[in-house]
Amino acid sequence: MNSRVWHPFTPVRARREPLPVRRAKGARLTLAAGRVLIDGISSWWVNLHGHAHPSLARAIAAQARKLEQVIFAGFTHEPAETLADRLCRILPGPMERVFFSDDGSTSVEVAIKIALQYWHNQGRPRRSLVALDGAYHGDTFGAMSAGARGIFSAPFDRHLFRVERLPFPSPDKLAAALAKFRRLLAGDRIAAFIYEPLVQGSAGMRMYPPASLAALLELARTAGVPCIADEVMTGFGRTGTLFASQQVRPQPDLVCLSKGLTGGFLPMGLTAVSRRIFRAFDSAEPDRAFWHGHSYTANPLACAAALASLDLLLAKESLEDRRRVAATFAGWARKLSAHPAASNPRHHGCIFAFEVRASRGGYLSPVRDCLEKAFLERGVLLRPLGNTVYVLPPYAITDGELGRIWRAIEAVLSEI
Ligand SMILES: Cc1ncc(COP(=O)(O)O)c(C=O)c1O
Repeated sequence: MNSRVWHPFTPVRARREPLPVRRAKGARLTLAAGRVLIDGISSWWVNLHGHAHPSLARAIAAQARKLEQVIFAGFTHEPAETLADRLCRILPGPMERVFFSDDGSTSVEVAIKIALQYWHNQGRPRRSLVALDGAYHGDTFGAMSAGARGIFSAPFDRHLFRVERLPFPSPDKLAAALAKFRRLLAGDRIAAFIYEPLVQGSAGMRMYPPASLAALLELARTAGVPCIADEVMTGFGRTGTLFASQQVRPQPDLVCLSKGLTGGFLPMGLTAVSRRIFRAFDSAEPDRAFWHGHSYTANPLACAAALASLDLLLAKESLEDRRRVAATFAGWARKLSAHPAASNPRHHGCIFAFEVRASRGGYLSPVRDCLEKAFLERGVLLRPLGNTVYVLPPYAITDGELGRIWRAIEAVLSEI
C-alpha cells in the first residue's frame, strides 16, 4: 500500500502491511478483503461493550447535534458535570474532583503534576516519585519517566527525570519492595507513589496480589505520601471489580482513567483527585491554580460516550458478561497449567495471559511475530507482548467467539 501514514509502535519497515479494517460489530472486525477477525484485545484495551454499539453511537450522534465542543476554561457543560459526578460516586477514594485530559498518558501527566504541585502549594516542595519495576504509564515525557526504561525510552533516557523504583511486588519480592519503600519514605522527599494496581499491562500482564499492594499503600499512607493508581488499563471492570483499587485498602489519592472510559469510542483521559489533594488547590490565588489544559478538555462527545458506556457497564447484562468471561478464563488457566509449551497461565477477572516457552523471552522475543501471524491466520487478533500471549476481549464477546480464540491458542501451542 502506498501510504503516508506512520503507524504507532511499529518499525517503519514492518514485517507485514497494516490490515485495512472496513467495519466492526461486537467483537468482530471485518477487513477490507471481507475476512473477519475476532478482536481478542479490545483494540488496545479500549473497547468494553463491543464495536459500533448502537447505544453509544446514538448518544454521540445526539450530543453532536447539541454541542460538539466548547472551550472548557471558564465554561462548562452538562455531560462533563454529570460524568464527573457519577464517576466520583463510584470511584475508589472517595474522590472529590475530576480533571479531564485526552488519553492515558495525559491523565498520568496530570496526576504527576498535581502530586508535585500539592507539595509546592503547601510550601514544602518534594521532587521524587516512586514507581514499580516494569511499570508502563504512557509515552509522554512525565509518563515515560515514571515507566521502566527500555527500548521504548532509550533515545530519550537522558531527558527523563529520575524516578525511584521498587521491586515488582510479587510474593517473593514483597519484603525487598517494602524495605526499599520504607527507606525511601524515611527521607521525607517522596512526592508520590504511582502504580498499575494488581496488573502491569504492558510489562506482560504481570499480576500481583492485592495484599502486596495494600502493604505498599499502607506505608505511603502512614508517611502522608499521595498514591496515584494508574487504572488506565485496569479500570472499568477488567479485573473483576469496576476498578482494581476496589480490591485493596487503603484507597488511592489520585486515579488515572482512559481507554475504557468512553467504551472505546472516543479518546479521553481523566484524573480523579481526593479531597485531601484538592484542598491544596482550593484557593483564589493564581499561584495555587493548576495551570494545565488541552484544547479538547472534556469534549462533550467523549463525555456523552462515557455516560452511555457507564449505563451499559452498570447494567446487569454487563456484569453477567464479565462473570462469564472471567469463568471462561479461569477454565483456560486450569487447562493450560500442564501444557508443555506454555508457562504461568493466569487470569484476573477478564484478563487471561500465559507465556509461550521460548529460547528468548521478553518484549523482543523472536516468537512474537510468529505468534501474531499464526493467530491472524486463524481469524483471531491477539497482539502478544513478546512471548506473553494475553486475551482481553470486549465483555460482549460471545461464547462461540471465545471458543474460537481458545481453539486458535490450542492449535498454535500444538505447533510450537
Ligand atoms: C497503565 C497504562 N497507563 C497509561 C497508558 C497510556 O495510555 P495512552 O496510550 O492512551 O496514552 C497505558 C497504555 O497502554 C497503560 O496501559
